[in-house]
Amino acid sequence: MISKLSKSTSTKEFIYDALNDCRRKTLKLFDELDEMTFCHQYHPDFSPVGWHLGHIAYTESLWLLEHSAGLKCLFPQYRKLFAADGLPKSERVKLPNLAETRDYLQTVREKVLEYLEVVDIEPQERLWRFLIQHESQHCEILSYVLALSKIRKGAEGKFFSPLLPAPCPVSSSYSALSTPMVMIPAGEFEMGNNSLDALDNESLCHRVYLDTYWIDSYPVTCRQYREFMAAGGYENSEWWSDAGWQWLQKEQVTQPLYWQSDHSYDDHPVCGVSWYEAEAYSRFVGKRLPTEAEWEKAASWDAQAQRRRTYPWGEEMPSLKYCNCDRLIGQTTPVSNYPEGQSPYGLLDTLGNVWEWTASWFTPYQGFQSYPYVGYSQVYFDNKHRVLKGGSWATRPWVARCSFRNWYYPYVRQVFTGFRCATSVN
Ligand code: AVJ
Ligand code: FE
Repeated sequence: MISKLSKSTSTKEFIYDALNDCRRKTLKLFDELDEMTFCHQYHPDFSPVGWHLGHIAYTESLWLLEHSAGLKCLFPQYRKLFAADGLPKSERVKLPNLAETRDYLQTVREKVLEYLEVVDIEPQERLWRFLIQHESQHCEILSYVLALSKIRKGAEGKFFSPLLPAPCPVSSSYSALSTPMVMIPAGEFEMGNNSLDALDNESLCHRVYLDTYWIDSYPVTCRQYREFMAAGGYENSEWWSDAGWQWLQKEQVTQPLYWQSDHSYDDHPVCGVSWYEAEAYSRFVGKRLPTEAEWEKAASWDAQAQRRRTYPWGEEMPSLKYCNCDRLIGQTTPVSNYPEGQSPYGLLDTLGNVWEWTASWFTPYQGFQSYPYVGYSQVYFDNKHRVLKGGSWATRPWVARCSFRNWYYPYVRQVFTGFRCATSVN
């Protein structure tokens, strides 16, 4: 009895701290906002910042206060607007103002904390952990929208300069292209995650055999990617798949969305590429994108101990000791900045900095069960979304782990995404 009590006390403390910590960071985002940025839709695939914030409150209220505590909806007037399946993205622009949204978040949260005091947490722990991760993810998406708003405003041309012409070639040698690679010996590893933290798409955990392969030690850098651009990467179809070339003809892009032409960014990972650009670059250097399994094994498998790690470095939550995450730095960092965060196989910069495209479609693992609703993962198992791994500089620590699976259409480049390459052995 005593051990049961103390276990649920520590669970509650953990949840309480995580809720507060996550929310403090969410509210800090309000400092950067004005009413105009709050409501504006900067891209058809992304809802306005204010919608994400209202949707965080709505989702917390729906699952904890209505479904779990059995309370009536506190703000029925927001139901249609902030439900995930309520309105098309283009109609999510008539929003409550900044102060009203803050109040919505606050009012729901007060009730939630009251409920946390009395609830029997054990049977519900997964749901509470889900909601912390849900808020974390929306905060990251909101970061993309803020980045898009800065592009739109020009941002004094400082951080993002997508309107500048592609930079000139820097060198005629291809030396920068030879990223050190790590050989991952053939064998089984354990993929996925069955813990209470795992989202539905991460389980069940399963063993996967992979042949020997090589994978880049770190993500493709701006210095390397510049050579692709200088070599006519965006003008020559030979490196592009048919779908990729078609996409390029339609979009007419000439550089990554968050391209930094300033050479001080040369060792930062390239950021803001579609899956097609990643695929084309990989072919340009005679490599390919890693599969999700290849990425996850190289990032998380401890071959010596024959067990998976939650994070490349072990079990400690992500922090600046190990990686560039949680918006603590506010932009990308050089790929070799976090040696403490390397994986047992020696990969650098797997978590944080930029998401990494993989060759894999987003599909369920054996034994998949939808949680908490089919709209979370299941509706995206349509063989049209590619998996991204690792998290970016804007990823909250509650969702930065090796088993975490993100997914987007291959044409999306608004996410803070780069990639690393792999090769087979034969
Ligand atoms: C995992 C980022 C693709 O944006 O649809 C948020 C996260 N799901 N609320 C998405 C999510 C439900 C999801 N991504
Ligand atoms: Fe959501």
